[in-house]
Amino acid sequence: MKDVVLISGGLGVLGQAYARVLTEDGYDVLALDCKEPENDGFTGEFFACDITNEAQVETLGKHLESKGAEVHGLINNASCQPEGFTNELEDYSLSSYRAVLDVNLLGSFLLTRMSVPLMQARGKGSIVNVGSIQGVVAPTFEMYEDTDITSPLAYSVAKAAMIHSSKWVASRYGPDGIRCNAVSPGGVNDHQKGGAEFSVKYASKTPLRRMAHSTDVAEAVRFLMSDRASYITGQNLVVDGGWTIY
Ligand SMILES: NC(=O)c1ccc[n+]([C@@H]2O[C@H](COP(=O)([O-])OP(=O)(O)OC[C@H]3O[C@@H](n4cnc5c(N)ncnc54)[C@H](O)[C@@H]3O)[C@@H](O)[C@H]2O)c1
Repeated sequence: MKDVVLISGGLGVLGQAYARVLTEDGYDVLALDCKEPENDGFTGEFFACDITNEAQVETLGKHLESKGAEVHGLINNASCQPEGFTNELEDYSLSSYRAVLDVNLLGSFLLTRMSVPLMQARGKGSIVNVGSIQGVVAPTFEMYEDTDITSPLAYSVAKAAMIHSSKWVASRYGPDGIRCNAVSPGGVNDHQKGGAEFSVKYASKTPLRRMAHSTDVAEAVRFLMSDRASYITGQNLVVDGGWTIY
């Protein structure tokens, strides 16, 4: 396995969008996910892994070692919406709050810890942490009126930390040739749960007058994985049609 890119949440909507463009670019994509594929219609090689489980991440490390895998990239992309994800803060359970932080922060910590030595051995590597506009600006709560969706505190906090982790990792491992950046998407239309009305409302508040397509986000990830971004590290590339400029 040469030029392997690990994608956490690799079977998800955005995970698969990255998998498609990175496969086109010649990388060997390993799609890490805690859910099983529903059919064969996915891109990349699937590896079952709950990224919050230290033993499972260690098993992944051993698998990579046994295959002599040369790891080029890691995309810390997985996130989760546990039961009660959209509850008001007053009714938010500790377990829901913790689950969001665990998948984003603990999961990316375990995968980064496992991947950095493999990248150091090659003298290069690229890590992309998936943030969100919610980690950059506060939610516009009016957007969510009359819908079943919202952006809870746990999510904003997790995403802000994903963005900041990129700076820390960039600073620590830049001398080893490892770059680390964040990509922060705005709302992606491909499978959003707010419905058509939400899409229209969201678009009307976005300078480019539409929600993101998963391909918009994938192109940013593709760029940061490639040598064309060889002098870019510690940055947060916001892919939001201009949402955060106001
Ligand atoms: N979709 C959007 O509008 C949007 C906007 C901004 C940011 N994002 C971020 O982009 C990323 C991908 O979002 P998406 O829309 O593709 O979501 P998705 O729900 O389609 O995919 C997430 C994947 O992560 C997996 N996952 C969850 N917990 C896991 C665990 N413990 N171990 C391994 N895998 C796990 C899920 O099974 C799922 O396949 C997330 O970090 C999300 O917060 C999404």
